[in-house]
Amino acid sequence: MPEPSRLLPLSGGAHGTARSPMTCLYRCGNACDHPVPNQTDNEYLGDLINTGLSRRGLMRAGALGALVLGVSSAVEAAVPGGAAVAAPTVGAAKPAPGTGELTFKPIPPNKLDTVIVPNGYDHAVVIRWGDEVVPGAPDFDPYNQTAAAQSRQFGYNNDFVAVVPLDRDYRRALLVVNHEYTNEDLMFPGFTTLDALTPEQRRISLAAHGLSVVEIERVDGTGGWQVVRRGSRRYNRRVTALATKFQLTGPAAGSPLLRTTADPTGTTVIGTLNNCAGGVTPWGTILSGEENFNQYFVGGDAAAAAGADTRARLDRYGITTSTRYPSGNRKWDLVDPRFDLALNPNEANRFGWIVELDPFDPDSRPRKHTALGRFKHEGATAILSKAGHAVLYMGDDERFDYLYKFVSSKPMKKGDPASARRHNLTLLESGTLYVAKFGFTSTVDGTGALPADGGFNGTGQWIPLARDGVSLVPGRTIEDVLIFTRQAGDAVGATKLDRPEDVEANPLTGKVYAALTNNTNRGVGSNPGVDEANPRVRNRHGHVIEITEDGDDNAAETFTWDLFLVCGDPADPAGEVTWFAGYDKTKVSPISCPDNVAFDRFGNLWISTDGNALGSNDGLFAVPLEGPERGHVKQFLTVPLGAETCGPALTGDGRSVFVAVQHPGEITGASFDKPASTWPDGNYARPAVVASWRLDGRAVGA
Ligand code: FEO
Ligand code: CA
Ligand code: CA
Repeated sequence: MPEPSRLLPLSGGAHGTARSPMTCLYRCGNACDHPVPNQTDNEYLGDLINTGLSRRGLMRAGALGALVLGVSSAVEAAVPGGAAVAAPTVGAAKPAPGTGELTFKPIPPNKLDTVIVPNGYDHAVVIRWGDEVVPGAPDFDPYNQTAAAQSRQFGYNNDFVAVVPLDRDYRRALLVVNHEYTNEDLMFPGFTTLDALTPEQRRISLAAHGLSVVEIERVDGTGGWQVVRRGSRRYNRRVTALATKFQLTGPAAGSPLLRTTADPTGTTVIGTLNNCAGGVTPWGTILSGEENFNQYFVGGDAAAAAGADTRARLDRYGITTSTRYPSGNRKWDLVDPRFDLALNPNEANRFGWIVELDPFDPDSRPRKHTALGRFKHEGATAILSKAGHAVLYMGDDERFDYLYKFVSSKPMKKGDPASARRHNLTLLESGTLYVAKFGFTSTVDGTGALPADGGFNGTGQWIPLARDGVSLVPGRTIEDVLIFTRQAGDAVGATKLDRPEDVEANPLTGKVYAALTNNTNRGVGSNPGVDEANPRVRNRHGHVIEITEDGDDNAAETFTWDLFLVCGDPADPAGEVTWFAGYDKTKVSPISCPDNVAFDRFGNLWISTDGNALGSNDGLFAVPLEGPERGHVKQFLTVPLGAETCGPALTGDGRSVFVAVQHPGEITGASFDKPASTWPDGNYARPAVVASWRLDGRAVGA
């Protein structure tokens, strides 16, 4: 076996980032090799400077006195069968923001083929690719894989992680995980090329996509967790791209643009694809984003012949129109013709949605909500407005694409669990879909240096695109707006951002944090230039935007914003200029490519990274958002070689943090037989979910 270190890229990686070309191929179909899908010339600089909106700057950070919290700690998620559990986004007792100073000693950047946590902490694998999910699933045997077995086992490439408690003591919980994509090189012994896959291997890959729900329990005496032995017949479930049926809801359900030969009603879809990040709603369901769905379809060239409008729609969503097979395509059309757009031109319109799954009812049909718009959904996270309406924040993870928000028409109901639950399961079927337009107060020079007025900040507007089934974009039908939401955003001049990934509101303050992971095309060639919200040319390391909704109400239509972090290594003399919310940069951990975000019970932000461009493995970081420690980024964990850190999720009692170790060993040249990582078992690479805890039993981090 080659030395793992010899498989490391020597410097840099694909597309000007540190990401392995192998990850680019499998995860997003080499999206960066294709033209930027957003070719519109909508304004990106200074649109709102003269709109008359009041400028509210960085000083808002201290004004926390009398906030109405977005999520009440009393919110109950009703469980079928009568039990009720605390909503998982908040802890039982709500500390004041800023009181959770992070006490762990940061770990150093490294290239080790294992999970590293700080002194005083431990970690363990909770579940791995191939482990039993549905009771009775066969033992994992990578040399004898079948689609039937994979449909009952934990899927590949775990991404989003939710830990939904089943009791108030956090002794039992449901672990809900997205399986974003497959890497056939690393899955199948003897792999040669994607062309040579057998039909059964293609079905295995379909079954390895989707989600898992699995009951877990605390390991006695620790903050560690294990899968409930002999499986949970009450809750455990696999959702796959192969067989699970989804219901389309909302104003576009049933549209002719969503009908196919197999589904002439346009209301029922088989499968979910490329599920990346997600969230847990205050009513206890799971949200999951269908992200790079475009790469799975073939025949875009034939479908585009239907007309210029069709071609433009396909191009805007990154579906290849110049050739039958896009690069990295798994040729699923050979086992299921719905992946061939020449035969089923509407099938791709049935992906790119937010999925809602009820983890408490394994027999429930998950739903795709058209009211939330269709794009490359990184994920969706929920908080309640002051009036109790559901507010969802959603990123479209593509270079130069947009940030969205949805506000439900109806407020969430509490009270009688059964009727409240029935009501709350309809909340995402009607409401207002918005796209963000940022306003700027000064210009930037592209280096990452602060602008002359001393802050990356400004005002912003949420521009409504659709409300309760009515299009608010002149000249566009409601179906146009909801199914081709990117073009609706183009039409209203939304702000082009550097790959909006996870976006989430702090449950203690209501402020919203959006991870913009990177964009090495920013300011390059004919691509859009820098602005205050995207201040660096060739942005390799990404940044984090902080949004404060006006009136501290998440349903507001205007906001102020500032950049919380401009990532990188401040100690690198040749590195890009960085910004850590004004904190002393000599004391922070270097951080690159923020992707997923979460909050601990003290309101600290936890950030996982994807594609660290600083020469270290990816990791998990924590940073206070309020008080004197605001901006003091500390590295908590690193993942093995070639892996990306996903999740993360902190339990509501604060004693455990979960991360998904996605694509370990995904380094170009590696295979199942020649692994670049042998984590976690010392033989071949296996994506897995890990829990970490503090040895003294106290809250993680603080
Ligand atoms: Fe699947 Fe945008 O990360
Ligand atoms: Ca992500
Ligand atoms: Ca990612």
